[in-house]
Amino acid sequence: VASLGTAGRLRLRSLAASPALPVVALDHLPDRSNPVPSFDQAAWREEFPLLARAIPMNNCSQGPQSRRARAAAVAFLDSWNERGMDWDAWLETVQLARATFARVIGATAADIAIFASVSDAASAAMSALRFADGRTTIVATAGEFPTIGHVALAQAPRGAQVRWVPVRDGAIDATAWGAALRDDVRVACATHAWYQTGALQDIPSIARQAHDAGALLLVDAYQSAGVIPIDVRAWGVDFLVAGTQKYLLGTPGIAFLYVRPGLAEDLAPVVTGWFGRANPFAFDAQRLDWGAGAARFDTGTPPVLAASVAAAAMTPVLEVGIPAVREWTIHLSRRLVEGAEARGLAVVGPRDPAARTPTTAIAVDGDSAAIERAMRAGGVIASARGPVIRLAPHFFTTLADCDRALDVLAAAVAP
Ligand SMILES: Cc1ncc(COP(=O)(O)O)c(C=O)c1O
Repeated sequence: VASLGTAGRLRLRSLAASPALPVVALDHLPDRSNPVPSFDQAAWREEFPLLARAIPMNNCSQGPQSRRARAAAVAFLDSWNERGMDWDAWLETVQLARATFARVIGATAADIAIFASVSDAASAAMSALRFADGRTTIVATAGEFPTIGHVALAQAPRGAQVRWVPVRDGAIDATAWGAALRDDVRVACATHAWYQTGALQDIPSIARQAHDAGALLLVDAYQSAGVIPIDVRAWGVDFLVAGTQKYLLGTPGIAFLYVRPGLAEDLAPVVTGWFGRANPFAFDAQRLDWGAGAARFDTGTPPVLAASVAAAAMTPVLEVGIPAVREWTIHLSRRLVEGAEARGLAVVGPRDPAARTPTTAIAVDGDSAAIERAMRAGGVIASARGPVIRLAPHFFTTLADCDRALDVLAAAVAP
């Protein structure tokens, strides 16, 4: 028997009278008009208590708290309170956070160093590079999150200058990379996605161009990790930085640096500390040796509480599957673009959801922070950035949430 399920998907069910017939659920028909997630969204929504009270559309800024992330934070506090300290278990959790992030980007735990912020991670990576021998230029895009630009500019006393790849029509100008990547470039900084509009860059292509020019590539994946499938090895990325606060559904206070295996061993970061040593517990202040793999980039005592939360917080996207997250959020992006235009709202950046993260940026006049506050009063948590309001859904977001967010935004900007 074929019937149209309530959510619009075609199901073939066995007849009650014919129990021998197989049950076939075709969950995945490419129905553009009424799509449904390929995972049990209703069950996953129970994992995020905030969803009962609000519509979080700020996932490009701060993802909501999962029950498991909260439980991990409480477990650390209990361990501290009940045992006084438990460094063996705490450092195991830090390792688990490393390994879990590695799965998000197609790496292994040995390729990952831990910091408190992306700024720290990028500073450590830059500190390991020499700006000499005719290679004194850092290329960065005008769409980098400011911190990457600042870290690049701060290398001036070490002999570096910055060449910029411009932004055009709400996206980073892909055609400008060729001219920027000359034979004087030591490293190119490419944000995977522009934080303002979610516009994606073609990282494998930029990696090829950078390497052809003899340069290294540093990718900032803070706006894409967890919602866009990433394969650092296949893509040829040299360094990648990201934290857990946004689509990875964790807290501030922890960030990761991927260093390509083989490259790490050639580098000696100037930003360092005792956890970067071959054996941190040798306690030898007079000897600077280096840890294996990316661990040589570790600095001081790791952020144990944030790592405990991160190890749990990142698991929902891995369990749903990042390709499935991507597929569903493309449907949501399409709904947001079409719905915005139907309400007379102007989308900034690429219209095509495949060219963006789940972020849809909508131009607003005047004080975008005031509009964000007005939307919160309407139960929608949006994210203001300069001249735009960003609506950034996630795998737990429904089509109805998108419609409601647009209604609340349209009311907030109405004259
Ligand atoms: C793309 C991107 N990179 C970096 C950052 C900032 O990272 P941190 O504060 O951890 O240095 C953000 C924060 O919004 C971001 O969106």
